[in-house]
Amino acid sequence: MSTIEQACASFRKLLEEQQQRIANAGGEKTDFSSKKTVTIGIIDGDGIGPLIIACAEKVLRVLLEREIADGKVVLKKIQGLTIENRLNLGQSVPDDVLKEIKSCDVLLKGPTTTPMGGTMESANVTLRRELDLYANVRPVSIPEEGIDWIFYRENTEGEYVLGSRGIDLPGMAVDFKVTTDFGTRRIAKAAFDYAKNNGKTQVSVVTKANIMKKTDGKFTEICHQVAQDYPGISVDDWYIDIMTANLLNPAIRSRFQVVVLPNLYGDIITDEAAQLQGGVGSAGSANLGDRYAMFEAIHGSAPRMLADGLQDYVNPSSILRATVMLLRHICRQDAAQRLEQAMNNCKVVVTGDATGATCEEYMAQLKL
Ligand code: IPM
Ligand code: MG
Repeated sequence: MSTIEQACASFRKLLEEQQQRIANAGGEKTDFSSKKTVTIGIIDGDGIGPLIIACAEKVLRVLLEREIADGKVVLKKIQGLTIENRLNLGQSVPDDVLKEIKSCDVLLKGPTTTPMGGTMESANVTLRRELDLYANVRPVSIPEEGIDWIFYRENTEGEYVLGSRGIDLPGMAVDFKVTTDFGTRRIAKAAFDYAKNNGKTQVSVVTKANIMKKTDGKFTEICHQVAQDYPGISVDDWYIDIMTANLLNPAIRSRFQVVVLPNLYGDIITDEAAQLQGGVGSAGSANLGDRYAMFEAIHGSAPRMLADGLQDYVNPSSILRATVMLLRHICRQDAAQRLEQAMNNCKVVVTGDATGATCEEYMAQLKL
C-alpha cells in the first residue's frame, strides 16, 4: 500500500517512461512485397488456443505449400507462451519467448489467458507494446444487411499502457490513461489510409470526450487534424455509449464504414460488433505495427468451454479470418482469397456448443 508521497514518485516515473516512449517512437517498415523470406511465428496460447491454432496451421500448410517447400515462407512454432510457464517465471512474456517472437516477421497467435487482478500484465498487452503493434484492425461484415465495418482500435495506449501499473492507496485505487499525439496521429492515419485505399467515404471517431476531456479530447482533435489530409473522406464524431446503441439500431447501423477509437472502447465495441456478425468466434483481429504484425482471434482462451467439456465445439472461424488478414498483410493475395472464399462458401455453422457443428465437421467442409 502506497503513501501519497510514494504514489507521486511512482507517477513521476510513469510520466518519464512515457516521455521516453514518445522520444523513441518510429522505426522501419517491413516491405512484404519484396521480402525474400517471410517467417510466420505460430503460437498456441492457452485454453482452446492449441485447438484453433492447429486448424489455422493446417490451412497455412496447404495454401503456402509451394512457398514453404521453396523456403520463401517459414512456419516457426514458438513454445512457452502458456499461462503455466508465464506464472512460473513471473513474466507475462518470458524473455526467451520474446526473443523467438522478435526473430519472426508476423505472428499467428492463439488466445492467452490473462490473470484477473494481481500485477501480471496480459501477454497481449506486452506483445502489442514490445512489438509496437499500434493498430488493432477488426473487420465485421453482415452482407445481407449491407454492413461492412472496419474498426481501427488504438492498440498501445489508453487505459492499457499502464493498466498493470495503477496505485493502491488506503481506501482507494488509481489507474492511469495515456494518450499521446504521435500515438493518435498514427492510428488516425492508418484508419484514413484504409478508407482512402478501399473506396470508403466516411470515418467515425468514437470517444467519450465529454468526460475524458484531456485524453479523448486530444484523440478527437488529432483525428480531425489528420482528416484534413483526406479531402474525399468525411469525418463524424460519436460518443461510445450512443455508438454501442447505434450498432444495435438496424435503421442506421449499415451507414458506418471505418471507425477509429481509443483502446478500451475499441476492445468493448468490437466484441459487440463480432457478436452481431455471428459471435465472437467469428471475427478476426490484426495487430499491425510498422516492423511486426500479429494476427489472432478476437476472443479469449475460453477456459469455460474446456471445463464444460465442449472442446469439440470450438469455432476456428475467428482465427481463420485472422489468417486471411495475415495472408493479405504479407502480400499473398491469392492464398488470402482462396481461404476467404472457402470460408464464405462453407455453410457449416459452429456455435460453440452442442447446438452447432463441431470444429472437425467445419474443417472437413472447408474446401480450399
Ligand atoms: C482483445 C482481448 C484482449 C484485450 C485481452 C485478452 C487482454 O480482449 O484482444 O480484445 O483486452 O485487448
Ligand atoms: Mg477484447
